[in-house]
Amino acid sequence: MKLSFVEKTDVTKEAVAAFAYEGGELTPAAKALDDASGGALSRAQAAARFNGKKGQSLTILSPGTLTQKRVVLFGLGTADALKDEALEALGARIYKGLSHSGAAQLEVLFDLDGLNAALLASGALLRSYRFDKYRTTEKAEDKPGLKGMTFLVADAKAARRNFKRLEKIADGVFFTRDLVSEPPNTLYPASFAEELKALEKLGVEVDILGEKDLAELGCGSLLGVGQGSARDSRMVVMHWRGGKKKDKPVALIGKGVTFDTGGISLKPAGGMEDMKWDMGGAGVVAGTLKALAGRKAKCNVVGVVGLVENMPDGAAQRPGDVVTSLSGQTIEVINTDAEGRLVLADALWYAKETCKPALMIDLATLTGAIMVALGHEYAGLFSNSDTLAAQLTDAGLETGEKLWRLPLGPEYDKQIKSQIADMKNIGGGRMGGSIIAAQFLQRFVDGTDWAHLDIAGVTWSNKDKDIVPKGGTGFGVRLLDRFIAENHEGS
Ligand code: BES
Ligand code: ZN
Ligand code: ZN
Repeated sequence: MKLSFVEKTDVTKEAVAAFAYEGGELTPAAKALDDASGGALSRAQAAARFNGKKGQSLTILSPGTLTQKRVVLFGLGTADALKDEALEALGARIYKGLSHSGAAQLEVLFDLDGLNAALLASGALLRSYRFDKYRTTEKAEDKPGLKGMTFLVADAKAARRNFKRLEKIADGVFFTRDLVSEPPNTLYPASFAEELKALEKLGVEVDILGEKDLAELGCGSLLGVGQGSARDSRMVVMHWRGGKKKDKPVALIGKGVTFDTGGISLKPAGGMEDMKWDMGGAGVVAGTLKALAGRKAKCNVVGVVGLVENMPDGAAQRPGDVVTSLSGQTIEVINTDAEGRLVLADALWYAKETCKPALMIDLATLTGAIMVALGHEYAGLFSNSDTLAAQLTDAGLETGEKLWRLPLGPEYDKQIKSQIADMKNIGGGRMGGSIIAAQFLQRFVDGTDWAHLDIAGVTWSNKDKDIVPKGGTGFGVRLLDRFIAENHEGS
């Protein structure tokens, strides 16, 4: 999709989007269009009882004396509700409303300033994402025909400047969505690591640790998960150094289980295909680094992702095995399906020891239980720092990638005591499963400021949402980008 900003209206476009407030009042640009059409818009409004409510739209074909083939009037609701998120959602609605209309080029006539026009365009862009590389027989009419959107603004330069940044963030979101959507026969630890190498073009340092390196380091917890797979495990460390040399980095740590069968504690067949996106946390870390590097963020950020495939073959780890993690702590593996925490245990410890970060944030599709608690609207947030939790919560509200904090505490920690090792990888029962998992992770942060985002419920969507088409959502990239911009970037 090509998005551009112009200061003069262009009547050569086949379609126009125009806008009306609740009550039916046209925006000044729409009013001018109505006048030019000989009143076609206001006549259609009256005929269709269109009153500008949010979510309403009205298509007017061959409008009066205009040369364009169609005008689509969108309801804005009340003017005061048109804030950041609402503008992006509106942009998404415009794209969706015209993507299959037959028009290839659309002019968007709205009297917005540079930033708001850029937000509108960003929403359209985010909604236009499609993962169609494996479709070979799709008919042309089933594909979106809309190829370009031109936004009429008073200050095109300002709009372009603002959009440039939002476009880089969208690049990051799309990278995550691509990774999450990729099937597990093509995305496995080694190929995932190769995909991450591509970030070097943007100035990210990318180091890949193979199984030999990981064994030498002592990452027994991560390696245990991958040992039943024919695909070798990897850990990838990505540095974006855009800040001052002396500034400690923010560390982002991601669970990258490229497929989770459950291992010997095998999952049931129904829905197991979803476990291709069990690498979603690592995908978000990768997408965030892409966004930050793309917009040349003034911050130091390190991404550490643990990439493994959890399979049940003759070499697979057994329930009852005891593994020694990089931290030296031993873990009794009671359930091989609680593997994400085993991967993160070593990735967290590695990040802490090697990068000495200011703080750590891990992201993981960690538990089914988080969906029982929060559904698909909020991701779970756990933290040992009230400040960090508040900053992340705020960034979530601002970007629409919302977080809900859940507790930690010694009562929960008790449940992962093991009879024969330093801890076991699951608690006694099903209750509070997401908290127990977070409690396990906390044993590997060693007092560093840390937050854990359980994104199992928000990484994949089975239905279209405003700026998120169904499929891999990229949830977390815009959130982390905002969190870093607001709290860890010099000006
Ligand atoms: N990858 C799953 C969690 C998950 C489930 C993510 C559904 C997305 C959708 C994780 O590795 C897992 O299997 N967790 C177990 C933990 C249990 C064995 C303590 C779970 O949630 O059932
Ligand atoms: Zn699992
Ligand atoms: Zn998993």
